[in-house]
Amino acid sequence: MQLAVGIGGARGESLRRMIHERLKSAGWTLATVRHPSSIVSPSAWLGEGVQVMAGAIVQPGARIGDGAIVNTAAVIEHDCNVGAFVHVAPRALLCGDVRIGAGSHVGAGAVVRQAVTIGEGVVIAAGAVVVRDFSGPGTLAGVPALARDRTQ
Ligand SMILES: CC(C)(COP(=O)(O)OP(=O)(O)OC[C@H]1O[C@@H](n2cnc3c(N)ncnc32)[C@H](O)[C@@H]1OP(=O)(O)O)[C@@H](O)C(=O)NCCC(=O)NCCS
Repeated sequence: MQLAVGIGGARGESLRRMIHERLKSAGWTLATVRHPSSIVSPSAWLGEGVQVMAGAIVQPGARIGDGAIVNTAAVIEHDCNVGAFVHVAPRALLCGDVRIGAGSHVGAGAVVRQAVTIGEGVVIAAGAVVVRDFSGPGTLAGVPALARDRTQ
């Protein structure tokens, strides 16, 4: 039998990771699940426990790390590398060759420009447009996205 972790939300990434790891150390396998209306290229790679929701698209060469969520209608373009336990929220768009570090949150409707690299545990606000690399830690918000001290 396989299990799926049902924790999402903004900033749910560390709780999701903890539960995933506890279940793994207790011997469970985490199911990698795809909604039938999602499109995942045959040359994309999905790690253990990845959840690809309705209408999401994962393009050729993309890699999605263990326990990540590609939420409703999100688009992961070609050759992106999405780290473990990242949550790509509904309608977010990662252009080609983007790298998102483990445990980061890409907010609903956010856009990350091609070839941008984001560090681990970063929060990208809903609706942000990220045009430059950001190693973090912290939160990026706005158009173009800037680091916000308040949430760092
Ligand atoms: C960015 C975010 C993390 C900030 O959350 P927070 O720390 O609780 O911040 P607050 O709501 O207290 O707002 C703090 C300030 O940031 C602003 N702000 C909040 N969200 C913002 C956003 N998405 N873009 C720009 N500014 C934002 C607020 O207007 C407020 O500004 P002010 O200080 O001038 O009044 C959050 O608003 C967000 O966008 N989360 C992602 C949500 C998401 O993707 N959900 C999907 C779930 S499936």
